[in-house]
Amino acid sequence: MKQHHGMMAALAIGALAFGGAALAASASTTIQARQANFKQLGKGMKAVMTELKADAPNVDAIKAGAALIDGAAPKVAGFFPKGTGPEAGVKTEALPVIWQKGPEFKAAAEKLVNASKGLNAAAATGDVARIKAAAGALGGACKGCHDTFKAKD
Ligand code: HEC
Repeated sequence: MKQHHGMMAALAIGALAFGGAALAASASTTIQARQANFKQLGKGMKAVMTELKADAPNVDAIKAGAALIDGAAPKVAGFFPKGTGPEAGVKTEALPVIWQKGPEFKAAAEKLVNASKGLNAAAATGDVARIKAAAGALGGACKGCHDTFKAKD
């Protein structure tokens, strides 16, 4: 009976250790996918800003950048399940405050989605002044979240 008990405990500990490893693996997978998604946002933003600085902005290039942003923006909010902060032991600039101020973080992610839609709508008109205003609003949405929720690099 005593032996049986010990075995059960060993099994339980084994299961716990396995569960913990699986959790850590999925956290790092999520963090990598999250960072890759942000890189897409960065790439799209750079493409848009490069054109807006040019004497004659290429609206098609702006549309492509805006579309890239629009594909990535709605995914942001879903990339932050509990356990994917610094405690995951993976290099991440996600600050713990994300999980302490859930509603504010969600609102910042929502703002990004709306600003992205705004940029895409402006790009569709081809009106550079409108695109500039929308890109400015979008940049504000990036910065607004980074200032509070992302570690400085
Ligand atoms: C709702 C919050 C939020 C918004 C909005 C947001 N970001 Fe971020 N961003 C983060 C967080 C948090 C990280 C850190 C992610 C990590 O390291 O796990 C990050 C990381 C990044 C990175 C670094 C990715 C890497 O690991 O190489 C880039 C680039 C980036 N964001 C660009 C942007 C751009 C451009 C926008 C706007 C179009 C934007 N972000 C909007 C929260 C946000």
